[in-house]
Amino acid sequence: MTSSFPATQRALVTGATAGIGNAYARALAQRGFDLVLVARDTTRLEKVGTDLRSRHRIAVDIIGADLSTVDGVQDVANALTDTAKPVDLLVNNAGSSLAGWFGTTDVADEDHQLDLMVRAPMHLTDAAIKSMTGRGHGQVINVASMAAFTPRGTYSAHKMWIVNLSRWLNIHYADAGVTVMAVCPGFTHTEFHQRMGARTDNIPRWMWLDADKVVKSSLRDLGKGKAVSIPSIRYRVLATFAQYVPASIVARVAKRGR
Ligand SMILES: NC(=O)c1ccc[n+]([C@@H]2O[C@H](COP(=O)([O-])OP(=O)(O)OC[C@H]3O[C@@H](n4cnc5c(N)ncnc54)[C@H](OP(=O)(O)O)[C@@H]3O)[C@@H](O)[C@H]2O)c1
Repeated sequence: MTSSFPATQRALVTGATAGIGNAYARALAQRGFDLVLVARDTTRLEKVGTDLRSRHRIAVDIIGADLSTVDGVQDVANALTDTAKPVDLLVNNAGSSLAGWFGTTDVADEDHQLDLMVRAPMHLTDAAIKSMTGRGHGQVINVASMAAFTPRGTYSAHKMWIVNLSRWLNIHYADAGVTVMAVCPGFTHTEFHQRMGARTDNIPRWMWLDADKVVKSSLRDLGKGKAVSIPSIRYRVLATFAQYVPASIVARVAKRGR
């Protein structure tokens, strides 16, 4: 297999207008990556794109797409398979959560969540891997969550799904030159909780992470070829605790924080 590294790398980041995705866009721009930025709000995307272009002298394309829809995912998958503009790093980050617990929510809203959190990253990872293995190199970051390690409704089930898939992809495609890594942040200061209408005053201050630090540590772990990145020592300790303590206890502890 031939491996050809371009002089300038291109990264595609979903959910690039706010929070963790925006932190990825800024960090990658600083490292000289050209960018493809995805979100629904195109006015906000244009603003982010204009700022990063002028600040870092990089090329920035934007795609306005709703990743909970078939057409939206297809538009982004097309960008990932465009041989004229190959993507070296895909960051599957866009996500949201419902305020209510499964069984009390509208099942149509659960469908929307499943499409955004599982179907979209599955299709985009598929498109990226098919292109990247053909070129002999590439990287995929799947933004999961510490929730993947705790039984906590459909949100944690979606995140567990992407962590599990990322672990296998990381091993399976290593020889093809493709690294896949899941990132599992704990509570991070972004728009996420406000958008879902969840209270945050009951979450202790020590549990909060900074999005820029989450991104910095995950990019460090990506460089090491890790399959799973857990930003901060405190959350690595909690993930180890969740692994060895009976699931019923973990579920009871995890029920707090909403
Ligand atoms: N914040 C936390 O505590 C935390 C902890 C662990 C994991 N995470 C995960 O981190 C990821 C990013 O979350 P965040 O905290 O940065 O959230 P955020 O601040 O609310 O940002 C979400 C981003 O995703 C985009 N987005 C939302 N729905 C979309 C859709 N249907 N199609 C396309 N783009 C969409 C939003 O832009 P538009 O609204 O314009 O589309 C925005 O750019 C998510 O996967 C989340 O599950 C967050």
